[in-house]
This record gives sequence, C-alpha cells and structure tokens, in this order.
Amino acid sequence: MMRDFFPGLAGIPAAKSSISFVDGERGILEYRGIRVEDLAEHSSFLETAFLLLFSRLPAKLELETFNRDISQHRRIKFGIIDLLKALPEQGHPMDALQAAVAALGMFYPFHDVREETTRYLTAVRLIAKLPTMVAAFARLRRGDEAIQPRDDLSYAENFLYMLTEQVPDPALAKIFDVCLILHAEHTMNASTFSGMVTASTLADPYTVISSAIGTLKGPLHGGANEAVIHMLEAINSVDRIPMHVDDKLSNKEKVMGFGHRIYKVKDPRAIVMQTFAQQLDCEAGPQSLFTLARAVEAHMETRVGSKGIRPNVDFYSGIIYHQLGIETDLFTPIFAMARVAGWLAHCFEQYQENHLFRPDQIYDGPHNLPYQPIETREPQFQ
Ligand SMILES: CC(C)(COP(=O)(O)OP(=O)(O)OC[C@H]1O[C@@H](n2cnc3c(N)ncnc32)[C@H](O)[C@@H]1OP(=O)(O)O)[C@@H](O)C(=O)NCCC(=O)NCCS
Repeated sequence: MMRDFFPGLAGIPAAKSSISFVDGERGILEYRGIRVEDLAEHSSFLETAFLLLFSRLPAKLELETFNRDISQHRRIKFGIIDLLKALPEQGHPMDALQAAVAALGMFYPFHDVREETTRYLTAVRLIAKLPTMVAAFARLRRGDEAIQPRDDLSYAENFLYMLTEQVPDPALAKIFDVCLILHAEHTMNASTFSGMVTASTLADPYTVISSAIGTLKGPLHGGANEAVIHMLEAINSVDRIPMHVDDKLSNKEKVMGFGHRIYKVKDPRAIVMQTFAQQLDCEAGPQSLFTLARAVEAHMETRVGSKGIRPNVDFYSGIIYHQLGIETDLFTPIFAMARVAGWLAHCFEQYQENHLFRPDQIYDGPHNLPYQPIETREPQFQ
C-alpha cells in the first residue's frame, strides 16, 4: 500500500501545545496568547521567559523573585571555565555552547523530570548561565579572562558587560533585550522539535537543550543571521545588489534571511527589528549594512515577493548585533540564549504528556539480496 510521505514533516502536527501560535498568512505571532509586538513594547526578556514557562505573566513579587533567582545563578563553575578554555579557539561558539550545556548537566544531576522544584531550578540555571558561557568563550578564545557576572545589572546589561567589560548604555541594552524577547519562542521548528524528541526519551533538560542548540546551529535555521552579515559584506555596495541577488536566484541558491516555512508575509519580528536597526544606523553612508539590507529587501520584493519570500527574523537581527559591536559568530549563540526559554517550555510540556517520538519511514531499498563474498566485490571508492 502506498503511504503519503511529507518531506521535512511539513504541515504535520507533531504536538498539541499552548505555548505559542503563529499565523503565517496574517503575520501574527503570540506567546501564550499575547502578541509578540506587545511583549516587545511592554515586557522584558525575563518576564517573557516566565510567561512561556508558567503560562501567565508573573505578579510583581513573582517577577522580582524570578529576576533575583536568575541573577544569583549567573556564575559558572570553574570546571566549565576550564572546559571552555580547553576548546579550540577557532571552533564555533555554538559548538562550545553545546558542549558546555551538556557538561552543565553533569554538575547538576537531574533525576526526576516530574519534580517541579528541580525543574524550576534547572530552568533558572539554564537561562542564567547560557549568557555567562557565551561571553566566557568569546573572551577566553582571545586569551582574555572571563568576566564575572554582576548581580546588580539587568539580564541584557550583564551579558553585554561580560562581553565588553563595559556597562552598556541602557537604551542599547533595552534594544538587545527586545531582540531576546523576539527570539524566545517560535512554535514547532527544527530545534524545538529536536529538543522535544530528546525530552520524549525522558532525558534531562540539559541534554534536551544541548541537542536543540546543535540543531539551531545550521544555516537554514539559527545560523542564517550570521550568513546574512557575510552576504551583505560580500555584496558591499548597493549597485552590486541586482547582480549578486539575481545570480543566487538563477542558481537556485537561497538568499539568507529571506523565506520561511510558515510566514508568507514579512515576519512580524523582522518588522520590529527593522525599526531598531534603523535607529542604530548611525553610519548613514550608502555602504552601511542597514542601507544595503533595505536595498536587498527592495530588490528581493520585485523578484520573489509574489512567492511570499520576505525577510525573516534573522535578516535584521544580525544587523542589530553587528551595530552593537558583537562578533558575527556570536549571533547564533545569542539566539540560543533567548530560545532556551521556549525550548524549556516545550521540554516541560513534553514531560507532562509524554509519548516517546518514534515516527515511521517508507523503506525504498532492496530486499533479499545475497551475501556476496568479499573477494568477488568490486571496490567503488578509489
Ligand atoms: C527557511 C527556509 C528553509 C524555508 O523554506 P521552505 O518553506 O522549505 O521552502 P523551500 O526551500 O521549499 O522553497 C520554496 C521556494 O521558495 C524559494 N525560496 C525559499 N527561500 C528562499 C530564499 N531565501 N532565497 C531564494 N529563494 C527562496 C525556493 O527556491 C523555492 O523555489 P521554487 O518553488 O522555485 O523551487 C528557506 O526559506 C531558506 O532556506 N531561507 C534562507 C535561510 C534562512 O534565512 N533561514 C532562517 C529561517 S527563520
């Protein structure tokens, strides 16, 4: 009997979830029923993380406690610093982050995935420590000491401080915090699915998050924000855009930061980020990355806009991080720092109604082949 096959499981529901909702035709994204634009305007990353994890906005005292718990768990063990020091400095920081998160679980053994206090503490540790690990690797690979987190700074301020040793301008830290809100969750995507598959084996959340980090790294997923900057730097001037973009399109190559499996209109997160990128665009010259990005978007609209291929979250986020002076290969680890909130929410939802993922396949290989003796086999690799 012929069975239907859906490459990439496109359109196949893999879970029931109340964490987030996306309407790709109308450009709507909600976390726990609240529009992401409203969260960007009124909330903070940690408040949004609480919302994702506990299904509601926290009361004042709850938020203060959550903020305090996160601040108090920002430090990482010397063993993790030693591990980061031992990694090759030319290695990708996403690999360092994945390794460090997996190792973190060895310091905090997690025995019962159904135990709520341990779950809370694990979520706090992961949200609190990811920025410290990202910033530590960024410094250690240059031969600098890792900077200790500061409890008196906000989540975003502290991360930028640990990277640069300078307390950032509050307005810049606010923009960075909004970027984290916009990256915190996005329904069923590749990294979330990968984390859920791992959670469905009842593996601990550290293992779940490290597997999601590995999946986020790819250029078709979180790695696109980095690729956007490389592409804009390669284009380098507005007059080269038609040639560069048309070349890619005629070779059937993807233009990074465009297109989305769900959105057929401009990604609502890209709309908010574009405003910030514009605010930060003080280079103002014809070659600024923001100017180039706007021109690429305009050209893409004439070429493939009718197919619903428009900027996604990664198109403007990379430009903002670049404008904030952050190294390009840290963009995807920053994405992971934000998305850990959504991954954990899905992980806990999975534990709640667990069913081990065990999809089927359609076998299309041969059957009943004879076992051929080795001396009669022809080599195929030279
Ligand atoms: C995200 C992505 C994988 C989703 O793609 P998808 O829904 O699987 O769509 P497909 O890859 O099947 O593409 C469908 C069509 O749109 C085109 N397309 C999709 N994204 C495109 C892009 N970024 N640039 C150029 N063409 C694109 C494809 O070439 C294909 O054209 P065809 O119908 O003529 O063959 C894809 O848009 C992409 O690779 N984008 C670039 C990477 C990126 O920015 N990723 C971050 C996502 S948040």
